Amino acid sequence: MKAALLAAWLAAACAGQEASGPRILRPTDHSVVEAGPLSIVAKGGSLKLDGKAIAATSPGPGALTATVTPSAGLHKLEADDAAIQFFVGAGAPTGWQEFKTHPPGGAACNTCHAVIRGAWEIKGGVTGDNCFQCHNQEAFPKVHTHKPEVLIDCQLCHSPHGSTVKAHLKMAKDAACKQCHD
Ligand code: HEC
Ligand code: HEC
Ligand code: HEC
Ligand code: HEC
Repeated sequence: MKAALLAAWLAAACAGQEASGPRILRPTDHSVVEAGPLSIVAKGGSLKLDGKAIAATSPGPGALTATVTPSAGLHKLEADDAAIQFFVGAGAPTGWQEFKTHPPGGAACNTCHAVIRGAWEIKGGVTGDNCFQCHNQEAFPKVHTHKPEVLIDCQLCHSPHGSTVKAHLKMAKDAACKQCHD
């Protein structure tokens, strides 16, 4: 492996490590969701919708999930001191994008997560193995130009809980490969 590419790989791997504080993972900031039940995923101690505490389940340390049915219009969601805004139904502010939940159909958290020594971890420590429970490994190289081994940290580019970008990407498609390639 070329030294420059190795350095870029290490930088990309580090950039993939998210901030450690409270976060809202589903839905995302400035997203538009359909009317009806909304599944929330967050990291933190407690959840508030429009300033009011909502009942949440904690499947493991620091992990929160809840289902709410918000009215049409603008809403604010808070996990401790992290906050996002989302919009239900038609008439969202310009530029806000439709949020698509992943995996669709409400897969259980323990499809990909486990509590290991008291911490909320990714099962088996590797994202890819979890993803290939449902996705075809054979189809991978054609779409990605790489075998899964090089891109096994799928969350470098994909948002596992859903996204507003095509193919649940965390960034624009042309920026994804540039994390390692000029
Ligand atoms: C398809 C696999 C998958 C499913 C299902 C899933 N997650 Fe995750 N989750 C991940 C991956 C991969 C990461 C790490 C990547 C990231 O943060 O972008 C993660 C990160 C997290 C984090 C942040 C952990 C940290 O320390 O920063 C929390 C909290 C979380 N998930 C909660 C949940 C909850 C609650 C559910 C069930 C409602 C759930 N997840 C379902 C794959 C999944
Ligand atoms: C419980 C099954 C399940 C798991 C686990 C799962 N997915 Fe999915 N995923 C689906 C389904 C179902 C769809 C929607 C149908 C489709 O496009 O295949 C989907 C869609 C996607 C899409 C969008 C495809 C498109 O054409 O828009 C991407 C990207 C994706 N998943 C990546 C991942 C990644 C990365 C992981 C691991 C973090 C993962 N998936 C884990 C079931 C799953
Ligand atoms: C370097 C960034 C990157 C990494 C890492 C990555 N992907 Fe992707 N993935 C992409 C891009 C880019 C697309 C294509 C998006 C498009 O065509 O619009 C894609 C598309 C997909 C799709 C949709 C496939 C289809 O047929 O349309 C699935 C499923 C998927 N990735 C799964 C995974 C899994 C599982 C992993 C980890 C083993 C992973 N990806 C790692 C960038 C990445
Ligand atoms: C995690 C870092 C990483 C990401 C992200 C990544 N690559 Fe690579 N890529 C590499 C490494 C390392 C090599 C060199 C492989 C070797 O020498 O064994 C390589 C080699 C290649 C090559 C062979 C030609 C060359 O430049 O050496 C192509 C083509 C390629 N990658 C395309 C892509 C595409 C398309 C994407 C986005 C879907 C992507 N790569 C994302 C690390 C990455």
